[in-house]
Amino acid sequence: MVQARSYQFYHIPAMGEVAVDPAFIQEVEHRPQTNITEAEGIPLIDLSVLNSPNSSFSDDHLANLVSEIADACQKWGFFQVINHGVPSEYREKAELASRKFFDLPKEQKLKVRRDEVNPFGYYDTELTKNVRDWKEVFDISVEDPTVVPASHEPDEKELRVLTNQWPQNLPELREAFELYAEQILKLAFKLLELIALSLGLPKSRLNGFFKDHTSRIRQNHYPPCPIADLALGVGRHKDGGALTLLAQDDVGGLQVKRKTDGEWILVKPTPDAYIINVGDIVQVWSNDKYESVEHRVMVNSEKERFSIPFFFNPAHYTWVEPLEELINERNPAKYKAYNWGQFFLSRRRSNFKKLDVENLQI
Ligand code: SIN
Ligand code: FE2
Repeated sequence: MVQARSYQFYHIPAMGEVAVDPAFIQEVEHRPQTNITEAEGIPLIDLSVLNSPNSSFSDDHLANLVSEIADACQKWGFFQVINHGVPSEYREKAELASRKFFDLPKEQKLKVRRDEVNPFGYYDTELTKNVRDWKEVFDISVEDPTVVPASHEPDEKELRVLTNQWPQNLPELREAFELYAEQILKLAFKLLELIALSLGLPKSRLNGFFKDHTSRIRQNHYPPCPIADLALGVGRHKDGGALTLLAQDDVGGLQVKRKTDGEWILVKPTPDAYIINVGDIVQVWSNDKYESVEHRVMVNSEKERFSIPFFFNPAHYTWVEPLEELINERNPAKYKAYNWGQFFLSRRRSNFKKLDVENLQI
């Protein structure tokens, strides 16, 4: 039985009285400021040195690049990359197909909805820190989604439903995203190597964790919002995985908490750039040298916004702990090892069962 919702009425200057589900309303201190700073944005890093045919991991250009990455990770936890090697036509096809998907009638989108067992598919009821996000989402697993944590014995039903769900009448969605996944994955590995180098480690030090990675691609749609100053597209959170590579459109709305003073800074859209941030796993590996930084998404009263994050996550069986090369007597490990698969699973379950959990985006 569908439960009746109790809507509340809000006065919106241009629209008069608007009925809104109070589940979307942020506490006063978390509402988006509209006079947000744009002045000193997150660093913009040019990766062209990686794509030139005679580039090698030993020249000066590369050393400069690595030090820019180290700087950005320490100061911001965020940066943007251009000349990243992902051909724009792959991204454009994915963006177009994603718009078409969200344009489908609701009942068709609900046919591919995620549920308590299968975390891949469509949903429009995400809570972040107990407040509903003003968005709808479609998640796909990049690798075979039946790869499950070693600690968890899936029953038959679970295995059957742990699969990517594709809408029947939009074949181009699957095609576009399978091709896009191959491209974005290449960039993710390049960034992983740059991050390893920037921590003073061998270039491939982190690659082994991603042999059977659990990465996912999310498609976000933020519809125009009549209460844009009371709600958020995504509430404040940190990313739980290793790295996030975000393609945002030209509307803008992503805000990053500046480490130096806690101010929310708007990430101005740069055409064809990716916004990269380090997640909790890199924070743990680096023993807090690089911190996973809070961010959130503002919505817009007039414009809809689309974005496509790629969450680069290690294999389920990975034990995440500070890397031994980065700890010593003076800098002892700040974290105990945890199993990524168990962490992922418990978070996923708790997102469905317990509403008071501080959910991360994974
Ligand atoms: C997110 O952090 O999950 C979403 C980012 C965005 O849409 O800009
Ligand atoms: Fe995020």
